[in-house]
Amino acid sequence: MRYAKKCIVTGAAGFIGSALARLLLKETDAQVLAIDKLTYAGVPESLKEAGLDPATLESSNPRLQFIKADICDLERMDAAFASFKPDAVFHLAAESHVDRSIDGPGEFVRTNVSGTASLLQAALGYWRSIPGAAERASFRFQHVSTDEVYGSLGAEGLFTEKTPYSPHSPYSATKAASDHLVRAWHDTYGLPVLVTNCSNNYGPYHFPEKLIPLAIINALEGKPLPVYGTGANVRDWLYVEDHARALLLVNEKGVPGETYNIGGRNERTNLEVVGAVCATLDEMKPRAGGAKYRDLVEFVADRPGHDLRYAIDPSKIRDELGWRPREDFGSGMRKTVRWYLDNEWWWRPIREKRYSGRRLGAAAPIRAETPDPRR
Ligand code: NAD
Ligand code: DAU
Repeated sequence: MRYAKKCIVTGAAGFIGSALARLLLKETDAQVLAIDKLTYAGVPESLKEAGLDPATLESSNPRLQFIKADICDLERMDAAFASFKPDAVFHLAAESHVDRSIDGPGEFVRTNVSGTASLLQAALGYWRSIPGAAERASFRFQHVSTDEVYGSLGAEGLFTEKTPYSPHSPYSATKAASDHLVRAWHDTYGLPVLVTNCSNNYGPYHFPEKLIPLAIINALEGKPLPVYGTGANVRDWLYVEDHARALLLVNEKGVPGETYNIGGRNERTNLEVVGAVCATLDEMKPRAGGAKYRDLVEFVADRPGHDLRYAIDPSKIRDELGWRPREDFGSGMRKTVRWYLDNEWWWRPIREKRYSGRRLGAAAPIRAETPDPRR
């Protein structure tokens, strides 16, 4: 591909950020500056195949550099922009797990809202310093957001770019705030921004707190597969590499100031999703004695404020930019399960040292973390 920009990717040690960095390095001539704080969710091993040494954070790939830094640290962000001189920023760094936002919203407000604001400040300062008008005009700040900002659908309808915002969880509320900040920097200061709102991703290198990787690993260990409530909530699933390709396309062809919804029209109930994981595992790694993985499903207390249904209308990105996903849910699920079967080296240390699979976000014990408005 002729794409040869200098790209900052924030959150590049995360699930989607690492998929985007791998794509940029494999299929384009881009140079990548990966910026990541390496929170519990930051896994430098996800960039190993791109040339990063996870122990030293040094890269053997001359087109990849890694900086361990917090996006809230404006001085470090200013320095990164000044030395790297990016043509594009893909902003993916965030606290991303809804259940953790129920247990402790503070870090979500800090990173997703304040962090996005400080990154925008650094980008604006740098953008204003670009000497050439053509280079200034082609600069892009691309904000990677979620369909959860639109709230919940009933049985009918799809989220379009015009759907009013109605976030319900602390996570989605902070992502909504960050989307508004990004648009404000465009409307007020003229920063050339792009916003994308995507549906649920799945695929390789997905942190095993999220439904699909948690179900795969629990199943492999013969542990219960927790399904919240009745399992009737619907999500719209997209294979992560299709999302990464969409982000690249929006970066190349999207119109500054515009929003693009991304989704593959793969609606499934959570019970269907867990059923698909089980059926794929039954085929690829049958249980002993003819038992079925589905027997491990356990219905547990629902998520507080659980949105019923998400579903994206992707007409705009399809009709205006020509994007089409390559995977459907069946092919994506097969690739995903195969990857977890073949890559225990990646998930086993996470499971043992970072997150063992315990239930998160079941209640709302947030007193200690919630700012007291009387103080
Ligand atoms: P993730 O949790 O896997 O990765 C987030 C990364 O951000 C981690 O590597 C973490 O270390 C890093 N990070 C967190 N706080 C940081 C900070 N203060 N400074 C620097 N780095 C920090 O998340 P993901 O699933 O890859 O999601 C990436 C982005 O895409 C998020 O903005 C999320 O809201 C959005 N998104 C995710 C999905 C999905 O299904 N996963 C769908 C739509 C949009
Ligand atoms: O829609 C996009 C969003 O998708 C992203 O913005 C988020 O960053 C990403 O985490 C994801 O949010 P969800 O809350 O939809 O994903 P999660 O995998 O946590 O849950 C998917 C569904 O499965 C949801 O309805 C809750 C349910 N669930 C989840 C877990 C972890 C279960 O039933 N059991 C579980 O153990």
